[in-house]
Amino acid sequence: MTTTVYVPLDSAAVALGADDVAAAIRREASQRGESVAVVRNGSRGMVWLEPLVEVATPEGRIAYGPVAPSDVPGLFEAGLLAGGGHALHHGPTEEIGFLRRQTRLTFARCGITDPLSLPDYEAHGGLAGLRRAMTLDPAQIVDEVMQSGLRGRGGAGFPTGLKWKTVLGADATQKYIVCNADEGDSGTFADRMIMEGDPFVLVEGMAIAGIATGATRGFVYLRSEYPQAIYIMNRALALARKAGILGDSVLGSGHAFDMEIRVGAGAYVCGEETSLLNSLEGRRGVVRAKPPLPALEGFMGRPTVVNNVISLASIPIILDKGADFYRDFGMGRSRGTIPIQIAGNVKHGGLFEAAFGLTLGEIVDAIGGGTASGRPVKAVQVGGPLGAYFPRSLFDTPFDYEAFAAKDGLIGHAGIVVFDDTADMLKQARFAFEFCAVESCGKCTPCRIGAVRGAETLDKLAAGIEPDRQKALAADLCTTMKFGSLCALGGFTPYPVMSAMTHFPEDFKPAPMAQAAE
Ligand SMILES: Cc1cc2nc3c(=O)[nH]c(=O)nc-3n(C[C@H](O)[C@H](O)[C@H](O)COP(=O)(O)O)c2cc1C
Ligand code: SF4
Repeated sequence: MTTTVYVPLDSAAVALGADDVAAAIRREASQRGESVAVVRNGSRGMVWLEPLVEVATPEGRIAYGPVAPSDVPGLFEAGLLAGGGHALHHGPTEEIGFLRRQTRLTFARCGITDPLSLPDYEAHGGLAGLRRAMTLDPAQIVDEVMQSGLRGRGGAGFPTGLKWKTVLGADATQKYIVCNADEGDSGTFADRMIMEGDPFVLVEGMAIAGIATGATRGFVYLRSEYPQAIYIMNRALALARKAGILGDSVLGSGHAFDMEIRVGAGAYVCGEETSLLNSLEGRRGVVRAKPPLPALEGFMGRPTVVNNVISLASIPIILDKGADFYRDFGMGRSRGTIPIQIAGNVKHGGLFEAAFGLTLGEIVDAIGGGTASGRPVKAVQVGGPLGAYFPRSLFDTPFDYEAFAAKDGLIGHAGIVVFDDTADMLKQARFAFEFCAVESCGKCTPCRIGAVRGAETLDKLAAGIEPDRQKALAADLCTTMKFGSLCALGGFTPYPVMSAMTHFPEDFKPAPMAQAAE
């Protein structure tokens, strides 16, 4: 009898030694004369347990982790292949609290299937959304997406159905679907995880988007820092083409749709949709003024859907189960589920997909388990480098676009980075200005100049030079950047700066030495 053992091929697992663990398992099995099939799956998203090894048993999959190659002989000795007890044994994977408490819709297959097996994909519900879409008119598909309440997961939270409707209504001989896989936000990895762990769901979502809007070509703009995702996506495209999911007639429907991977060179601003389009066209990654909207004049001046990976990967389940099913999850105007990425100084870092509405406190304390250092949580930055720092006093904020905006914050791509009480919020605020200065595309003055002046101002504050004046100047610069910048890089840098100044005023007092010298 052959036993199936799963060892993730996800970059996080590989960085922690998964390839060596897979090799050690194969070696040990062969030395013992055991028949073992090692499947390289996606990650389950419990990064602190990676490399997480799972063994298929009649009672379901049994989890072990984090496994080092040197643990492998001992694991076999303990009866790994039968799910035997061991210090690294966590019991049935699905029963691990972090997984059990999730609502996995977009990530339903991630970590379960072989990412590059189409039969496995179909056996777990893959292609059902595309097959249903093929029975609908384009306008009906767009309406289904609109009714689902799905909002863009890339950061701005714009209704996906509305964007598609604009592209569908545009009159053009050529339209495009562009998937934004630049994933530049700090603490985020949901796009990477799904591209590595369930690439066909993105292909399926893009094919549906193509059929819905009349676009026949698609691009995935994928950052160069993700070589594993680039490799897996390219393999998946080749397999999908061979199976007729991509090509002149998608699954024999008569709709043409094909797509390719384009690799970005690593500028944060190239995640902004108009910079991305410039980069995709081979130009410098500079922000374009809007209007015209990319939906009307996007790639090569043609109507273009630009959507984040998670927005597009959520489409198949919406089409498969229907708009009502998806919309029933969530709160307020934030419908469906959101893959929250928990990172930074946290005990249980990883990806947690849940309906909107969990409070920040639940996410950090109950799910994340508090800090990895064991020290008190001081601040949590939500939404990437342009997101606000939230103190404990705001931990009752529910994960919802409007609730975060009401507290001068944003959800962004749903990455949260935890800091303990050793964090210096003045340094973090300075870093926000510095980041903006380094990553600015330079097109508009408030961002190009404001970010540099902002960093200088906070340097003077740290040195104790006229501290009150510097604080007022920093706030003034923030107002100019917020209201005068062309895009959200300059426009949102004030969020981390002002939240740090507002919620952690004690860190913005000059050092006693400097005060004395004044
Ligand atoms: C500076 C900057 C960086 C951005 N980076 C990303 C990114 O890495 N990935 C992404 O999907 N959206 C990013 N966005 C948002 C995109 O401009 C755009 O709103 C998004 O791709 C639209 O897709 P969605 O509606 O599915 O979210 C960024 C925006 C700005 C201003
Ligand atoms: S805000 Fe910054 S990144 Fe955005 S257009 Fe202006 S200079 Fe470029």
